[in-house]
Amino acid sequence: MLNIKLSHNPLIQYRPIRTSDLEVLEKLHGDLFPIRYESEFFQNVVNGRDIVSWGAVDRNRPNGQSDELIGFVTARTVLAKASDIEEYLRYDSSRSEQTLIYILTLGVADSYRNLGIAGCLIREVIKYALNIPTCRAVYLHVISYNNPAIYLYKKMSFQCLRRLCDFYFINGQHYDAYLFIYYVNGGRSPCSPLELIKLLVTGAKSGFNTVAAKLWKKEDRKPSKWSKCKESGSLLPTKHSKRMSNEDALTQFV
Ligand SMILES: CC(C)(COP(=O)(O)OP(=O)(O)OC[C@H]1O[C@@H](n2cnc3c(N)ncnc32)[C@H](O)[C@@H]1OP(=O)(O)O)[C@@H](O)C(=O)NCCC(=O)NCCS
Repeated sequence: MLNIKLSHNPLIQYRPIRTSDLEVLEKLHGDLFPIRYESEFFQNVVNGRDIVSWGAVDRNRPNGQSDELIGFVTARTVLAKASDIEEYLRYDSSRSEQTLIYILTLGVADSYRNLGIAGCLIREVIKYALNIPTCRAVYLHVISYNNPAIYLYKKMSFQCLRRLCDFYFINGQHYDAYLFIYYVNGGRSPCSPLELIKLLVTGAKSGFNTVAAKLWKKEDRKPSKWSKCKESGSLLPTKHSKRMSNEDALTQFV
């Protein structure tokens, strides 16, 4: 795709982020996000401490900038049982070992947008997750007004699970977030549409009361903290809100 903001043909390559990227990585985060990240976060990224990351560079970039980051994605592995999305994972007996990949930050410099770079970075994360046998999903939060990012996640087949009311607190204002998930390695939600249909068919055979009892039990066992995510315009009000301030948003804003 032609990008009118660039005066040359870009040659985009992807590579791990390293210590020499520190300054540019900090600057890109400062330019792209409305919150400030602490230097410890960047140190952890460039040193690969509990964080995996990929960078995008433009090998045709002039003025000795051919190895300078123009895009990045950072993510970390979390134990499913210690995550805040455990209820969206189907139960299995090996659950104690199940992991998830949480995307922390994703960004592409303005002049390199709409070239498919963010899509490629997300695919790197998905490939990484697919190679971890215990990993069941890649997930992330996105602020509710970020249409380019929301469009991108949907295009990449992420499922929007919930709208989280007042999830972010930025510069004195609350903002909702969407929770997006991409299941891998057989990971899936506890009640897929197919399971629901099967349950209803069984119910039609054995009587409404049995189904109602099953559904009630399931609901009882796994109370939903958040409202279900629907297409915009049909969002349900939330019951639960998790607030995030500039300070504690360190590893959560994408
Ligand atoms: C979101 C972001 C990472 C996307 O990067 P990118 O490299 O431009 O993404 P891609 O080129 O892979 O895909 C962009 C898609 O969004 C579409 N898009 C762009 N602006 C859009 C908008 N305002 N509304 C809807 N879709 C939009 C593009 O058309 C493209 O889709 P297409 O390939 O079907 O044409 C980039 O805009 C960015 O860095 N934003 C600032 C930081 C940020 O918001 N990060 C994500 C936080 S969750």
